[in-house]
Amino acid sequence: MIVLFGASGYTGQRVAEAMVRRGLRPILVGRSAGRLASLAQRLGDLGFGKLEVVTADVGNAASMRALIGRGDVLVSTVGPFARLGEPALRTAVNAGATYLDSTGEATFIRRVFEEFGPLAEQTGASLIPAFAHDYVPGNLAGALVLRHAGGVAHRVEIGYLVGGTGQVQAISRVAFAYLVERATKPGFTWRDGIQVEPTGLRMQTFPLNGRECLALTIGSTEHYALPRLAGPNGLHEVDVYFGWFRSTTRAAPLSSRVIPALLPALLAMPAARLLMHRIGNFAVRWAAEEPDSVALARITSHVIGTARNASGTALAEVRLMAAGDPYQLTAGLLAWAAQRAAEHGVSSPGALGPVEAFGLEALEVGAAEAGLHRL
Ligand SMILES: NC(=O)c1ccc[n+]([C@@H]2O[C@H](COP(=O)([O-])OP(=O)(O)OC[C@H]3O[C@@H](n4cnc5c(N)ncnc54)[C@H](OP(=O)(O)O)[C@@H]3O)[C@@H](O)[C@H]2O)c1
Repeated sequence: MIVLFGASGYTGQRVAEAMVRRGLRPILVGRSAGRLASLAQRLGDLGFGKLEVVTADVGNAASMRALIGRGDVLVSTVGPFARLGEPALRTAVNAGATYLDSTGEATFIRRVFEEFGPLAEQTGASLIPAFAHDYVPGNLAGALVLRHAGGVAHRVEIGYLVGGTGQVQAISRVAFAYLVERATKPGFTWRDGIQVEPTGLRMQTFPLNGRECLALTIGSTEHYALPRLAGPNGLHEVDVYFGWFRSTTRAAPLSSRVIPALLPALLAMPAARLLMHRIGNFAVRWAAEEPDSVALARITSHVIGTARNASGTALAEVRLMAAGDPYQLTAGLLAWAAQRAAEHGVSSPGALGPVEAFGLEALEVGAAEAGLHRL
């Protein structure tokens, strides 16, 4: 049985549609009976038949417990995850279920791997967080460069470079709030172990379409998952970067070079982070609830994975690209993973990265079906 929690949300509705287009019959769960009914009606009108709907609220433990049992697949898009994510995660762990979510929040990812992963190993649950635009592509690119590097990689760098949005809001208000959290809350890196550090502490440029694209460090699932895929020599450093690039050929104003260059120093200062957090939260209030669909369709996401030896020489590079609405990529990835988990199971219990959970070959096929391709 596949249960979709948060089905009535912006992301959840797209995941529900991607699931039924794959022939799945998810149970649609949310807190608003009215919104669930109109989603079920819309999918019914598209010719997918009548789906079961269930109301549940993260604040009501009993309604959560009734959702799933051992062997079921729970997909959660109820966020922000730091505030709302724990009840679904705990329910899946206690039930011994497979859990997939759309989080991109570093603090929540750390909790999944460090706090809930060991509990899941005991109950038989498999937890695969951030199975979305952030951070399936980097896990895939990282696994591919590790394989090409032949077990001698010392360091892997992943760059997420997103462009094409112009001045228009291309994320939902909830996702905007999450970006503010991401920029101002601690991230982490991998240096022979997880090390907590400010988000954006380090900066790197990636060559893309004849330009150098600036990106700042973030905490994500690659830091936990890629070292486990490395050979007996281990993987000593993993850094993941996130940056926006301009799709126009117009020269960038000075501010767009100076501000990113100063950001790492600013983000390392607690007082500056607090100020940015306040400004960001103020801006969130004025953001539109839903993103601009025309802007979404113009987005291009590039992901560059590079494996290096100890002296910094590149051993392998892989580039992946997804064109168009990133929410559709997220929906396609979650629908594929839910089906794969329901029909073939998942490799093992515990907190897992996407490649560990499903295998590299299967994941690459699934990612391509969702719209993510190797260049
Ligand atoms: N990693 C990625 O690449 C990626 C991609 C897409 C989204 N995301 C993340 O996914 C999450 C969802 O984003 P979104 O844009 O879809 O937000 P959204 O439209 O606000 O959806 C949030 C969902 O959570 C539900 N919810 C809120 N409070 C609840 C409660 N107390 N009990 C039960 N359900 C509750 C909402 O129900 P109602 O419908 O009743 O309001 C809604 O279904 C966010 O955290 C976002 O950052 C990440």
